[in-house]
Amino acid sequence: MIFDTHAHYDDEAFDEDRESIIEELKTSNVGKIVNVGANLSSSQRSVDLANKYDFFYAAVGVHPDDAAEIDDESLNRLREMAANEKVVAVGEIGLDYYWNKENSDIQKKAFLAQIELAKELSLPIIVHSREAAKDTMDILASSDAAKTGGVVHCFSYSPEIALEAVKMGFYIGVGGVVTFKNAKKLKESVELIPMERILLETDCPYLAPDPFRGKRNSSLYLDYVVKEIASIKGIDEEKVIEITYKNALEMYGIGD
Ligand code: NI
Repeated sequence: MIFDTHAHYDDEAFDEDRESIIEELKTSNVGKIVNVGANLSSSQRSVDLANKYDFFYAAVGVHPDDAAEIDDESLNRLREMAANEKVVAVGEIGLDYYWNKENSDIQKKAFLAQIELAKELSLPIIVHSREAAKDTMDILASSDAAKTGGVVHCFSYSPEIALEAVKMGFYIGVGGVVTFKNAKKLKESVELIPMERILLETDCPYLAPDPFRGKRNSSLYLDYVVKEIASIKGIDEEKVIEITYKNALEMYGIGD
């Protein structure tokens, strides 16, 4: 079975047909999905989805775009949500200098505060990091984030940084981008890091793989990502599915 470790089925892109897509997923080869929050309201919606569907789990956290949302009160709300047993991670949290670099201090503070929360709750973190490799790695090291571990999702940095993250004990999230012809660095990273450190993810509705690039993504398209990883690694597609599933259970602390 396939484990989609990072999805946003609460997104408005699914408002028209959310229920029917989820019904379709039930009869597909997708066995488990973690729906990831990006602010307080989408975190709550992720918990609601996990409560409603057996094979859904939730991550709660505030994305760097909404870093200003983080204060004592919102941290408490995340803490309350995380008391639900289907909440398996704190995320997505991190740094994004692509969209906004001016508020990097606020982003760093929010990132650190949520790493501390994850440590307190003994939950792994889901890291979003874009054009902020050095600051991200520095914060992960200085905050001893390896203690809870987690994943660098939608990995977009160099193979060297992938190795560094793996050495720190983190997983690397690989999704639709790996199928793009111009994704040379990501293909190299996948080649370099051990299969035991790779997780499958969609980030849907975003980042659909080829040949659906630009369309709405869903977990049903993960087969294309599996195919690409299998060809890079020179192993069977079944093996990719099996190992990444096991990796995800381990990272999220979910029993099968
Ligand atoms: Ni995401």
